[in-house]
Amino acid sequence: MEIQTIILAAGKGSRMKSDLPKVVHQLAGKPLVQHVIDSCQSMGATDAHLVVGHGSEIVKESVKGGSVEGGHIELSFSMQEEQLGTGHAVKMAFDNLKDDSPTLILYGDVPLIHHDTLSQLVEVYNENPKGIALMTCDLDDPTGYGRIVRDENKNVTGIVEHKDSTEEQKKITEINTGILCCNSSSLKDWVGRLDNDNVQGEYYLTDIIAMAVNDGQVVETAQPVHLYEIEGINTLKQLADLERVWQRTLADQLMEQGVTLRDPNRFDLRGKLTCESGVIIDVNCIIEGDVILKKNTKIDSNVNLINSTVGENSHIKANTIIEDSIVGNNCSVGPFARIRPGTKMHNDVHIGNFVETKKAVFADGAKAGHLSYLGDADIGKKVNIGAGTITCNYDGANKHKTIIKDGAFIGSDSQLVAPVTIGENVTIGAGTTVASDVNDNALCISRVKQKHIDGWNRPVKK
Ligand code: UD1
Ligand code: CA
Repeated sequence: MEIQTIILAAGKGSRMKSDLPKVVHQLAGKPLVQHVIDSCQSMGATDAHLVVGHGSEIVKESVKGGSVEGGHIELSFSMQEEQLGTGHAVKMAFDNLKDDSPTLILYGDVPLIHHDTLSQLVEVYNENPKGIALMTCDLDDPTGYGRIVRDENKNVTGIVEHKDSTEEQKKITEINTGILCCNSSSLKDWVGRLDNDNVQGEYYLTDIIAMAVNDGQVVETAQPVHLYEIEGINTLKQLADLERVWQRTLADQLMEQGVTLRDPNRFDLRGKLTCESGVIIDVNCIIEGDVILKKNTKIDSNVNLINSTVGENSHIKANTIIEDSIVGNNCSVGPFARIRPGTKMHNDVHIGNFVETKKAVFADGAKAGHLSYLGDADIGKKVNIGAGTITCNYDGANKHKTIIKDGAFIGSDSQLVAPVTIGENVTIGAGTTVASDVNDNALCISRVKQKHIDGWNRPVKK
């Protein structure tokens, strides 16, 4: 069955004290509202109609459909100029709403709703396709939430907002999460009949519950598996708290799969991490985008991995950054290495401290132990790059390539002025500026003949 969704995202979020619209603040590296869109797509929804208002342009630019694998979700946007309430907001999306498939209503600031929970709600809806399926939840402290009112037979009869509730109703602990699923043509009818005759002077979407009941329809409820799924974000503190809850959940999942996390409370995943067996990750690592860690990789503290793959038995040492790159098997990288986009290490490669690489390919057994910049370079098997070696890849206008063939030895503090090719088994003497190609097996050296003056008197101050 096709299902469409309306995601309310027009609110400003004044309590965030931020110029950014609330729903584009990030949780686990992704805008809050994108989490909701992704859950909709994962549960198989075909359309997401976003109701936007404050910062609508920024919201539109920040989201995309199809950021999860499989399925396809079409995004549409409706403008709500003035925030006159959740009922009014839903109405804004009506032009885009198809009558023949049910509608699931979600909030852009409730990011962690899980697609399985949404599927359950839709199942409950399917049992009564003319009624409403409502996501509710029991809270120890229900303050602020709309309360679910039931009759003596426990049937739902309506929702009363906290501000409109009686003292007796305030004691109800079953709350409205705001998430519901119902028939689209009935929704249009009910919302069309809403008024704003309440304490806040808003068009409450929640009033459609009593309307449905009066129309003889059944309102059934479903509950989320985890409480964090229905938690909304209003402040930066709540955002930070939910981030920690979510990170701990991700960390727990990884540990269950056999990943050793030295401290699961100091772990940040902002994307997707795929691990083979025997992976060990030390504290304060940040993992972004799509990262793959193969068997027995060891990641030391403060490492930042972005859209990269690390091969079997490789060791990434502390304070290293690896972005859009591939590290082969049995490599060692860092500490303090910066591996920039387009770097590819084959196997048994060693990159030491303070080495920066960019678009550099290292063949098996190549080594650059200390203090180097290696950009736009093709580095052969078992090449040894001495400390302080620089590829001068940029002439001020264009980038050029350096090719270093198998077995070459580059002496410390050398500059390789690209485009340049260093032949097989070449030896470059320390401190050489290489500005033209070097033949295989040659020694290339540019040092002036060294002078020694014995008994040298240093200048003295006059
Ligand atoms: C709403 C529910 C309440 C429920 C609570 C759950 C109503 C009347 N009340 O209350 O029963 O317990 O959520 O968190 O629905 N929004 C718009 N346009 C508007 C108004 C709101 O887009 O005109 C968006 C907000 O940006 C937010 C969401 O709708 O994402 C909920 O609005 P909010 O004002 O926070 O609802 P509550 O008063 O908390
Ligand atoms: Ca409100």
